[in-house]
Amino acid sequence: MTRPLTEKRLVLATHNAGKAREVAALLADHAIEVVTAGSLGLPVPEETETSFIGNATIKALAAARASGMVSLADDSGFSVAALEGAPGVYTADWAEQPDGTRDYAAAMAKVERLARHSPDRKAWFSCALVLAWPDGHVESFLGESHGQWVWPPRGGKGFGYDPMFVPDGEAQSFAEMDPARKHAISHRAAAFRLLSEACLPRR
Ligand code: IMP
Repeated sequence: MTRPLTEKRLVLATHNAGKAREVAALLADHAIEVVTAGSLGLPVPEETETSFIGNATIKALAAARASGMVSLADDSGFSVAALEGAPGVYTADWAEQPDGTRDYAAAMAKVERLARHSPDRKAWFSCALVLAWPDGHVESFLGESHGQWVWPPRGGKGFGYDPMFVPDGEAQSFAEMDPARKHAISHRAAAFRLLSEACLPRR
């Protein structure tokens, strides 16, 4: 049975301040306060799974066990049908440079170079959200946003692979559209909606 979230505070298993802000804003609507794994000095576990849910589960359980509090983790990425779902869980790795910085123009160019020979342009973003309790119970949710990859990249808003993705039913790429529009239809919004319907108290 789905376990509801009755606590008013949870740990967000991220060391990324941008993500923390975004999720804190979504949870504030449900009167839930967020503390980050980073601010508690919790260790960062290795993401050794081959699925978004698997990696988000590793992060959420590690934070729940280390903090003794309910924890929420996410894992997300970009998948291309012609590449059998790659880069997938390796989405961030494809942008990694030898000096440790991330170059998304280079990562998008790699996707295009590998996928250009296929007429199949289908692509999708995925976002896994996992809630974990200190006793090991987990609730997992997967949101997806389906569409096509386009080349050359379009638009200067957004981040990551946004400029090469046009969602189904839209004329603009994620990087061209108003951020409010992206947030309404994104994989992250879809996953959060599922989590909220299943586990969060109604206001
Ligand atoms: P992680 O979830 O922090 O491991 O990052 C996943 C990777 O997917 C990063 O490289 C992000 O840039 C990329 N990504 C996740 N969501 C989006 C999105 O909404 N737009 C563009 N790129 C994204």
